Amino acid sequence: MGEKTKKASSPGQIFLFGEHAVVYGYLALATAINMRTEVQAELIENNKLKIHSKGIGELKGEIGEINGNWSIKKKSGDSEKLRFVTKVIQSTLNYIDRKDGLKVCIESDLPPGSGLGSSSAVTTATAAAVSSVLGKSLTKKEISDLAFKSELEVQGAASRTGVNVATWGGFLKIQNSNKETLNKLPKLNILIGYTGNYSNTGKLVGEVKALKESRPDLIIPILKTIGNTAESGIESLEERHLEKVGALMNVNQTLLRALDVSSPALHNLIQAARSSGAIGAKLTGAGGGGCVIALCQENIDEIAKSVKRAGGQPMRAKIGVEGLKIDQ
Ligand code: MEV
Repeated sequence: MGEKTKKASSPGQIFLFGEHAVVYGYLALATAINMRTEVQAELIENNKLKIHSKGIGELKGEIGEINGNWSIKKKSGDSEKLRFVTKVIQSTLNYIDRKDGLKVCIESDLPPGSGLGSSSAVTTATAAAVSSVLGKSLTKKEISDLAFKSELEVQGAASRTGVNVATWGGFLKIQNSNKETLNKLPKLNILIGYTGNYSNTGKLVGEVKALKESRPDLIIPILKTIGNTAESGIESLEERHLEKVGALMNVNQTLLRALDVSSPALHNLIQAARSSGAIGAKLTGAGGGGCVIALCQENIDEIAKSVKRAGGQPMRAKIGVEGLKIDQ
């Protein structure tokens, strides 16, 4: 790989506890999974921009100035599907105040809208690969700020959880703008079950916001209790008390149902996992579709079969893995 090509990759994530409530400043625990998005950026001629995202789509355009900002002009192709990528490319070019022709190739293990942090992984790895190929070595904080800004602009309200996990990896305790890496948590046996249905984060975050505004007296205590499950969940993980962790995951799921972000397909996979011996199970991410996670012991194969029989796609996840990697 020459100076004209740079690669970066970022992991997807699961929420062990605390999605949605984290948007309002309550505690959450998220962790990086061994499913990654890899981005390769290459310098090309004539200010052209070419994006190829394997299995998702393609886009062509030109990088030029509009009102004093570097922008993507004459766009053609899958603009909607690649909106996170084009947004973060523009933000990165403006932040480093450089432009050049770019070819950006993306390959991801994370299905878009699967609730596994695909947009955070792609924005983080793209900001890193693009800045690096343009000769600017940004700090991880600068890269995650660019990714977060782009995510906010595309999707509206979001917490920093996704980009924090995509950048720093490991187990992260998140509250407001604070993040703490927890080094002593056990590497749990987690089975992910994918419904195959799209999870629309922006829409679901908006629905929870509307619910909270219509009945703050009912909804704020639910969000607060979700934060409490995260806090107790972390304590139980530190004590290696998996039965307690599982019970708290189940409580967290019940509270997410009260926020109306679960779905029949998610519920079905959760029931399948629990009835075949999962210690606890819940949805992960925004909900509405996407994935469930199940805490397993040595019975993970049984649980995977049961999730498959119920119509889900089982995936065994390694958790607590490395964050952003940039090939120099
Ligand atoms: C989505 O992956 C998780 C939510 O908590 C939103 C966010 O934290 O940005 C629903």
